[in-house]
Amino acid sequence: MKKLFVKTFGCQMNVYDSERMKDVLAPTGYMPTDSLEDADMVILNTCHIREKASEKVFSDLGRLRKLKDRAAEQQNRQILIAVAGCVAQAEGEEITRRAPWVDMVVGPQTYHRLPELVAKADPISRLSVVDTEFPTEVKFDFLPEEAAPRGPSAFLSVQEGCDKFCSFCVVPYTRGSEFSRQAGQIINEAKRLVAAGTREITLLGQNVNAWHGAAPDGTSWGLGRLIRELAEIDGLPRLRYTTSHPLDMDDDLMSAHRDVPQLMPYLHLPVQAGSDRILKAMNRRHTADDYRRIIDRLRTFKPGLALSGDFIVGFPGETDRDFADTIKLVADIGYASAYSFKYSPRPGTPAAGDEQQVDAQVKADRLAALQQLLDAQQMAFNKTCEGQQMAVLIHKMGSRDGQVTGRSPFMQSVYLKGDHTHLGKMVTVTVKEARQNSLLVQTGKRPQQMKSEENVA
Ligand code: SAH
Ligand code: SF4
Ligand code: F3S
Repeated sequence: MKKLFVKTFGCQMNVYDSERMKDVLAPTGYMPTDSLEDADMVILNTCHIREKASEKVFSDLGRLRKLKDRAAEQQNRQILIAVAGCVAQAEGEEITRRAPWVDMVVGPQTYHRLPELVAKADPISRLSVVDTEFPTEVKFDFLPEEAAPRGPSAFLSVQEGCDKFCSFCVVPYTRGSEFSRQAGQIINEAKRLVAAGTREITLLGQNVNAWHGAAPDGTSWGLGRLIRELAEIDGLPRLRYTTSHPLDMDDDLMSAHRDVPQLMPYLHLPVQAGSDRILKAMNRRHTADDYRRIIDRLRTFKPGLALSGDFIVGFPGETDRDFADTIKLVADIGYASAYSFKYSPRPGTPAAGDEQQVDAQVKADRLAALQQLLDAQQMAFNKTCEGQQMAVLIHKMGSRDGQVTGRSPFMQSVYLKGDHTHLGKMVTVTVKEARQNSLLVQTGKRPQQMKSEENVA
């Protein structure tokens, strides 16, 4: 039996895709391994979103070359190397030119063809194959139904690609245009995940709330309806979805936060910036006040909803005043957590060619100021949880012996005493103390099974 090592960069969609690549290759005799040294095939599933992310790929490829040469010289063993994901899509043949020891380059929409590519690639004659077209067939129709169990918390891609074309972003080019999977296919995949032990499903899409799918009843559903249907699955106490665009937040989806107890009270809704001038230049197609109104409305449906966001500082032309608007917006909203980045010019995107690039030091200073505020908000939110009872899903082993990791409804990490028998269990805890990135809970008790999430406030 041959061994497959997959390294994943980037977003949750890549995490999902990596698992599916393993599923696709399993029937051809490749079994996943966590040890790079044992691998007969290595896949780097890459991310192109910022320069740093994509440069990492080439430094990894340098190391893989040595591994490959050593295996060939010392053990007469050929290691296949594949580059998948968004860098593969963006760079295509440039990768095999810069790194001729790469055997396969495969894009996010063609990885269902990996078995054919493996058959074609020939590491001895160094014949590499590149498949980065946007195919007419839909990969989801060709991925095997049999899948390895994903554990207590799993991702499920329901939507791919993006037609929004924010002027800083590579995703519309690397993932292609918006596509929604059929509702029936999604429900079946969710049921299979639950049957294999998954207790929390996060629906994924670049624009997940733009999902609209042909439904089994012959009509077309939106994401709110899909969530209501998935909530009918027995044994699935938790649902989440990410990432959403403010403009696609419709009333049916917002009210699902009120109506569906399985839908967790946490929403990642990126706004990127607080200045209307910058939002316009970013081609976000909404103003800062549009975003405020959406959040207000969401909070009428679900008071106590924890919010998360993404921010870019130093977008071309951003002045101190524009940045002050971002700080103001953050102060108005109050985030439970957030991600913030320095603007990184990406090849082929409109903003990269803008002449008014912001000085590196200014970007660094703004990022530090924004992060200070976001960190303070996160800590303040975590503090509000002190003394509260909440349900925690134990989803993976902890980094220390005798410890397991769980997640609160609001996505906070909770560490508990326990072992592998507790994975997938839902426990009620009382929060003792808030930390920046986690909650400390009353210890001493071993986790016990809880009946349903609805038992807790
Ligand atoms: N589809 C999602 C996320 C896209 S990528 C959405 O629309 O929100 C994740 C985040 O990376 C973005 O929200 C943005 O904040 C950041 N990002 C994207 N392109 C970037 C760039 N060129 N420089 C810096 N950050 C970027
Ligand atoms: Fe990128 Fe904008 Fe599409 Fe999000 S909505 S993936 S930021 S282009
Ligand atoms: Fe990166 Fe592609 Fe995701 S660029 S963020 S891996 S969609």
